[in-house]
Amino acid sequence: MLHKLLAPLIALLSLSQYVLSFPLTVRLDNGAPLRNIVYVQTFTDSRGNWFNLTDLVTQKSGITHVILASLHLDSPTEIHLNDNDIESSYWDPLWPMVSSLQAAGVKVMLMMGGAAQGSYARLQNDFDTYYPIILQILRHHNLDGFDMDVEENVSESILLRLAQQLDADMGTNFILTAAPVALSMSNSGNLDNVSWPALDKVAISSTRPNGKLFNWYNTQFYDGWGSAASTGSYDTVIKAGWDPRRIVLGVLTAASAGSSWQPTSVLASTIASLKAKYPNFGGVFGWEYGLAGQSDGQTPVQWVQSIGRYLAA
Ligand SMILES: *[C@@H]1O[C@H](CO)[C@@H](O)[C@H](O)[C@H]1NC(C)=O
Ligand SMILES: *[C@@H]1O[C@H](CO)[C@@H](O)[C@H](O)[C@H]1NC(C)=O
Ligand SMILES: *[C@@H]1O[C@H](CO)[C@@H](O)[C@H](O)[C@H]1NC(C)=O
Repeated sequence: MLHKLLAPLIALLSLSQYVLSFPLTVRLDNGAPLRNIVYVQTFTDSRGNWFNLTDLVTQKSGITHVILASLHLDSPTEIHLNDNDIESSYWDPLWPMVSSLQAAGVKVMLMMGGAAQGSYARLQNDFDTYYPIILQILRHHNLDGFDMDVEENVSESILLRLAQQLDADMGTNFILTAAPVALSMSNSGNLDNVSWPALDKVAISSTRPNGKLFNWYNTQFYDGWGSAASTGSYDTVIKAGWDPRRIVLGVLTAASAGSSWQPTSVLASTIASLKAKYPNFGGVFGWEYGLAGQSDGQTPVQWVQSIGRYLAA
């Protein structure tokens, strides 16, 4: 009797182990892996212990990019990653984990901006002071890319200048992305006064992928600017003329991360539909790692693994 009940369970358990230990990287027709991106803003658990970001590779989550968030230009002498000076010893545990991720083939990027405003305005007012500081940070920590989360009003020309200058100084393999809200991609609503469709038209490069300065857009499909509950919001962005391979579906990793969080069961279905509709679907990002899985009864790394499985399915 016990045997009969246990057998299917054991079969299920060994199947899930098989799935979890299977390499999860899926490739697009241009050879690039289907992106499984996570932003990290919470670096420690509730007891103050650092998350071991290396778990993302040792536990085969299928992660492709980790984006450290958020860089704030507060003044020329106060450049913070969240609440601490980015060059202070507070961050000593972070950098070896960044190197391990990179050694395992994961790209590690830095995001500037987000809900705390002012960084882009300061850059706009004093590019010559702030730009070299950004460049120094990227070089010092050997980072692979820079993500612009512009949630304040700035001129499009300063964003173009920043992208052009980073391209010139960091090279064509350096990843440049931005994190606009979904509605802004069809000029239907925005968190800033930037027209991303207009900026993308002029942000061109003959030497970068797709001829574009911005490799792709980490597009926010939450907080009232879009939804991951179905493919509808993503379809609207693509209908506005965007190439799916440059549009990443940005989702919340837990209900506490914002509004319009979706459980992993719903994300599984949305991702499956997007993969079926768009052979070059640009992938998924989660905001953000430290909270991930809280609403799904999962650890952060398990939540990323779930996304990896849906992308690989
Ligand atoms: C993270 O885990 C790896 C083993 O998976 C270990 O080698 C490394 O020392 C850990 N890092 C930290 C900061 O605990
Ligand atoms: C940006 O400016 C618009 C008006 O052009 C305004 O509605 C909006 O609230 C401003 N956004 C921010 C973040 O200040
Ligand atoms: C956006 O706001 C910035 C800063 O206030 C201003 O310089 C720029 O002209 C505005 N752009 C547009 C398109 O309104």
